[in-house]
Amino acid sequence: MRLPRRAALGLLSLLLLLLPAPEAAKKPTPCQRCRGLVDKFNQGLVDTAKKNFGGGNTAWEEKTLSKYESSEIRLLEILEGLCESSDFECNQMLEAQEEHLEAWWLQLKNEYPDLFEWFCVKTLKLCCSPGTYGPDCLACQGGSQRPCSGNGHCSGDGSRQGDGSCRCHVGYQGPLCTDCMDGYFSSLRNETHSVCTACDESCKTCSGPTNRDCGECEVGWVLDEGACADVDECSLAEKACVRKNENCYNTPGSYVCVCPDGFEETEDACVPPAEAEATEESPTQLPAHEDL
Ligand SMILES: *[C@@H]1O[C@H](CO)[C@@H](O)[C@H](O)[C@H]1NC(C)=O
Repeated sequence: MRLPRRAALGLLSLLLLLLPAPEAAKKPTPCQRCRGLVDKFNQGLVDTAKKNFGGGNTAWEEKTLSKYESSEIRLLEILEGLCESSDFECNQMLEAQEEHLEAWWLQLKNEYPDLFEWFCVKTLKLCCSPGTYGPDCLACQGGSQRPCSGNGHCSGDGSRQGDGSCRCHVGYQGPLCTDCMDGYFSSLRNETHSVCTACDESCKTCSGPTNRDCGECEVGWVLDEGACADVDECSLAEKACVRKNENCYNTPGSYVCVCPDGFEETEDACVPPAEAEATEESPTQLPAHEDL
């Protein structure tokens, strides 16, 4: 099967997407490590919450449970589960910060119930609160409540890095991700919210959801009675599929060129079964497409 150029380009970019991203192998930042530690701590809180609790409801059980709840024993149990023994950097951070965690557990957790905020943001200054970025934890573009209008990712959000600018989700553009990309139309817009919705597949640009709302038709479609209609490339005067014996199939917006069943594909022809076998039986002969 041979694909037209546009489809081939699509396949190529799909392949590039499937390759592992270079970030995947990056070491976690100090903020990510801190966040990981806090996540594990919170998990430890959940795991120890029901401990020493038989499920009954006796006065004795309630008393021991409430004592255990804020006990140093429970803290030690949580700390023990924080780092894998092989995770050197986690253990190093834990060792250096154990006193902080103990102080929080014994004295500060009522005043600062959010451990991430108290530990990673306020105390160690490794992270920023959600919606803020950079060394001084400034508000992201579009404000810390809904950075990038809720339509993008703020560079450095929640870390001490980045520049607070927006990387918009698909369909959105502009410094605050409030504008619609080509191929999308604005389906809702007020002071705080902007929603962009995909055009019909037949439109390159549009003002609404159907093929009658196109501003310009997409490649492979033509304007016909006020709507963009599919071009049947296979019935055009100029043949779309040019190899010998090749079949053409129209698809929405495009077409495919396919050799008939049992035919062998070569660069410039579909070779019928009998001829293909003959070629295979004489290995000294070069394959047809190099035989120029
Ligand atoms: C803007 O639209 C959003 C989404 O429909 C809605 O939740 C919000 O209340 C609207 N705001 C104003 C100011 O109209």
